[in-house]
Amino acid sequence: MEERHPVDPSASGRQSASESRRIRIFDTTLRDGEQSPGCSMNLREKLEVAQALADLNVDIIEAGFPIASPGDFEAVREIARQVRGPVICGLARCRPEDIDRAWEAVRYAERPRIHVFLATSPIHREYKLRMTKEEIIQRAVEGVRRALSYCPDVEFSPEDATRTEIDYLCQVVEAVIAAGATTVNIPDTVGYATPRQMYELISTLRNHVPNIHQAVISVHCHNDLGLAAANSLASIEAGAGQVECTINGLGERAGNCALEEVVMALRTRHDYYQAHTEIRTQRLVPTSRLVSGITGMVVQRNKAIVGQNAFAHEAGIHQDGILKERTTYEIMRPEDVGFTTTQLVLGKHSGRAALADRARALGYRLTPEQLNAVFEEFKLLADKKKEIYDADLAALIEQEIAHVLDRWTFEAYRVSTGSGQKPHVWLRLRRGEQVLETELADGDGPVDAVFLAIEKLTGIALVCKDYRVHSVSVGKDAQAEVSVEVEYQNRLFRGRGLSTDTVEASARAFLNAINRIQAFCNGIHSGPQTAASTRPPNS
Ligand code: KIV
Ligand code: ZN
Repeated sequence: MEERHPVDPSASGRQSASESRRIRIFDTTLRDGEQSPGCSMNLREKLEVAQALADLNVDIIEAGFPIASPGDFEAVREIARQVRGPVICGLARCRPEDIDRAWEAVRYAERPRIHVFLATSPIHREYKLRMTKEEIIQRAVEGVRRALSYCPDVEFSPEDATRTEIDYLCQVVEAVIAAGATTVNIPDTVGYATPRQMYELISTLRNHVPNIHQAVISVHCHNDLGLAAANSLASIEAGAGQVECTINGLGERAGNCALEEVVMALRTRHDYYQAHTEIRTQRLVPTSRLVSGITGMVVQRNKAIVGQNAFAHEAGIHQDGILKERTTYEIMRPEDVGFTTTQLVLGKHSGRAALADRARALGYRLTPEQLNAVFEEFKLLADKKKEIYDADLAALIEQEIAHVLDRWTFEAYRVSTGSGQKPHVWLRLRRGEQVLETELADGDGPVDAVFLAIEKLTGIALVCKDYRVHSVSVGKDAQAEVSVEVEYQNRLFRGRGLSTDTVEASARAFLNAINRIQAFCNGIHSGPQTAASTRPPNS
């Protein structure tokens, strides 16, 4: 990147102490986040996440890429119809058919936005688009104009902006703003930039594009070098007014900028940034849990802000300091990001109201039907387990949310096995009114044997790509949560199962994946992640 205007990050672009700039939070968990392999969500899950994002009070939800598939289109349209509060945005390439489709999907929103993008860097121009600089400006302007013919809120992104010649980038930005773009988003598509470069890039745009004040400057940083949050914050310092990010930093490759990191950096270091967001920070942990549960993308324990250990103090010196004065080692309070203090919640005699209360405190909004289903499961669990923790309840709720229109349900199994012995399994499943049973002696162990029995009964053969089991809470009677990723006809599907018995949890997870496959094949839900992506190429 050519340096046109070296600026000292510590000196300019800052506010006086009394001012606080409002930074808009544009969440793209449902679009860029969902593009992450194996993270696709069905319609019901997307609606659940979109509602959680609205509760978190994000400013804009990028709900999907409507031209990508009928499932993407349906999800964006339903979110636009049902979710109130944030602006609902749909992504489109600078092509008439993409823009028309995006508008069809977002038109029912209270406040719709169309986000058009076109790559501008020499690498993309030469190898991907085979277009000249002039052709790209013309296509970008036409895209913005077409989007504006539908709605007044139009965002433009010059894809791979950080590897674009700065003079040319300034020309593109000026042209799309002159065409009417209300937000200009600067993507670091491949996560290549450094914080100082981002600072200089945004400063250059602010200082050299004559009409820049007519649009909000946004940034969209990928995390390939682990710099996405730092790059976004440097851009804010330079004057960016919108940050594009995802919950838990979900996204292509190493992911996008993590929403929770930027939001809490601005809040905790308000003295430095003099900027704020309108995010309800107490909803960060519940939203993180929801997204992790739905996508199966586990949040690392030491993940900033929302990781299980983010506020755990292990070292004696630290514990001693914290007990004397919390601020010795803690710069944020766990309750400010939504960690609940009570861990032990419910028992056998807790009623429906207590359960509903606890679910709300954990950040879940359950419909009466969902509450009934979770309460039934809770009673069954309370018979097996004396103490039910927040984590147990969250797992039951997420299981209910992730539930698809089940064709197959688990009924019972028996397995006998031992060292050096082929396992012998008996399995009973239900399909509607039909009860099906099978027996076999095969497999490498009890889990493999149950998987083979499920394949035999359902007639669906799968390749198991990933299998994980983790304990939801503590104690020998803790529930096991099994997640599987399976490949079926070159597509990846996920499944999750929960039980105090690990083999049963595995069977439920496998069956959950099979139900998703069948729902997908019957066109009930939006699609899974493809092993070989079916998304239209970016152009
Ligand atoms: O990373 C990127 O460039 C994108 C654009 C579509 C904004 O996701
Ligand atoms: Zn991106």
